[in-house]
Amino acid sequence: MKTHRAAVEVRDFRHTLDGTVGFVPTMGALHDGHLFLVEESRRACEHTLVSIYVNPTQFNNPNDLTNYPDTLDNDLEVLKNAGVAAVFLPTYEVLYPDDFAYEVDEKVFSRELCGAHRAGHFTGVLTVVMKLLNLIRPDQAYFGEKDYQQLKLVRGMAEAFFLQTEIVGCPTMREPDGLAMSSRNLNLSRGDRQLAPVFNELLQCEDDDEEVVARLAESGFTVDYVRTIEGRRFGAVLMGNEDSPVRLIDNVSIG
Ligand code: PAF
Repeated sequence: MKTHRAAVEVRDFRHTLDGTVGFVPTMGALHDGHLFLVEESRRACEHTLVSIYVNPTQFNNPNDLTNYPDTLDNDLEVLKNAGVAAVFLPTYEVLYPDDFAYEVDEKVFSRELCGAHRAGHFTGVLTVVMKLLNLIRPDQAYFGEKDYQQLKLVRGMAEAFFLQTEIVGCPTMREPDGLAMSSRNLNLSRGDRQLAPVFNELLQCEDDDEEVVARLAESGFTVDYVRTIEGRRFGAVLMGNEDSPVRLIDNVSIG
């Protein structure tokens, strides 16, 4: 498995590849949800590239960025064993030679749900994904449905800008107790980890959104939102210490 740090390096490497290329962008701290994306890419494409980059422009809370888990040595080992052709490990200087003077902004759906609670979040996501897709020019790029709003926005961006990459969505991977797999789960205290699956349980229940908000709050979660749109219920909650809470998101198909 190759590792590339410079933009020209990864671009040149991509040009040496014959056949289809699948790409899985990540922020590291890899779990089985990420590995499922890699497997799907390996099934469909001849070569799979992965990026690991904790993108600062998508964090609205500096503590959340500082506390984002980092398990790079393990990530590289896991990706090597998973048959990945190359890993791209850029820095801010590599990805943002413009110092974020240019951005990709979606003006409608990005303002709802998580976007309403994390100002600028999706502009950061779309901008970095656009940069990565332009460098790697994959045939397919893989995103998990846990970040359903992100998946929809990235797909919309690919269409709006006539990108040549097909955006592939993959189902949310869950722990046996129903908690959606997320790198942030590593930051949950033992008590919060025990409570966390109640979030998914309540999202699935038949109560209306307001009742679910009330029941989550009673159970000990700080609720950002619960909202149902077109048969899918979306939620975001905060757990743990107020200065650097762990934010969990999830969504379930209902009805
Ligand atoms: O879902 C993520 O891990 C990130 O938002 C992504 C797509 C890698 C962009 O930084």
